[in-house]
Amino acid sequence: MSKQTNSAPAANAGGTFTFPGTSFTVNRMGYGAMQLAGPHVFGPPRDRKEALAVLREAIDSGVNHIDTSDFYGPHVTNQVIREALHPYGEGLLLVTKVGARRGSDGSWILDSSRQCLVDSVHDNLRNLGLERLDVVNLRVGGVAAPTEGSIEEPFTVLAELQQQGLIRHLGLSNITAAQLAEAQKIAPVVGAQNFYNVAHRQDDSLIDALNTQGIAYIPFFPLGGFSPLQSSTLDSVAAAAGATPMQIALAWLLHRSPNILLIPGTSSRGHLRENIAAAALALSPETLATLDTIAASHPSNVH
Ligand SMILES: NC(=O)c1ccc[n+]([C@@H]2O[C@H](COP(=O)([O-])OP(=O)(O)OC[C@H]3O[C@@H](n4cnc5c(N)ncnc54)[C@H](OP(=O)(O)O)[C@@H]3O)[C@@H](O)[C@H]2O)c1
Repeated sequence: MSKQTNSAPAANAGGTFTFPGTSFTVNRMGYGAMQLAGPHVFGPPRDRKEALAVLREAIDSGVNHIDTSDFYGPHVTNQVIREALHPYGEGLLLVTKVGARRGSDGSWILDSSRQCLVDSVHDNLRNLGLERLDVVNLRVGGVAAPTEGSIEEPFTVLAELQQQGLIRHLGLSNITAAQLAEAQKIAPVVGAQNFYNVAHRQDDSLIDALNTQGIAYIPFFPLGGFSPLQSSTLDSVAAAAGATPMQIALAWLLHRSPNILLIPGTSSRGHLRENIAAAALALSPETLATLDTIAASHPSNVH
């Protein structure tokens, strides 16, 4: 892959993960590309040059797992990835997702119709400049929480596209344990991507179940997403560790389970560097226990 400078923080400090049944081994510290689109993930980046530089520096720092979607922009994020990184280096895993589209006003429209899924796979192929997509996640529920309901029809469509050679591996996003089990009867699932972070831990049992099966869990909003995490506990742990609160939040996820892969999103190289450096942070059992108190007091964890 691309060069690694001595001064750059290394994404490989957090260890690696091999997706089950695949030849893909990635550094657990990856990068989420959603923030590269314009405001509200709609339209062109505020600063295209910086967006290109963020992607190139991520690769130079050892990131080899990038999460994207053609509905970021729409199309914009994938086109920026292609401009920055194509032809892609050996070992770079690009993970995309389908199951939604954007309205002309920027609205998010969940759409798992056959037509939308097929069109989205072709949009991803074209805009990323690929003949086959590495991993495609079927995005099922809304962002705040998944909703129960059969996913047999849309997941079968993706399994057909996989058999046609357009997709290597399949994953899921915004799903429940029951939906995971239903999908696994149709085709192997290599990873699941849901809302989870140090304060929002509704997926604890799903993470453990996936770990038992060797399947990746990729939390979105690892830093809180559109409302970045704010916690006095995070602040005090960070101050004591000589780190930033966001670095502690990322390091906590790496400690939480070996099947957790990180895709923090940022539009700036400064934050990218900070986030990647978190891969090298070691947290003591006492610190981890202190961080548990954040979840205990967070309203979203009251079941
Ligand atoms: N499957 C799904 O439904 C779904 C939903 C949402 C996201 N995702 C994926 O998950 C990835 C991560 O989620 P996300 O980007 O929405 O949220 P996130 O990683 O939790 O947080 C991103 C926000 O935090 C800021 N940030 C990043 N690093 C920072 C740092 N070191 N210090 C302070 N602020 C920092 C970013 O602003 P700056 O740009 O200013 O750094 C941005 O506002 C996305 O990129 C996307 O690939 C998937």
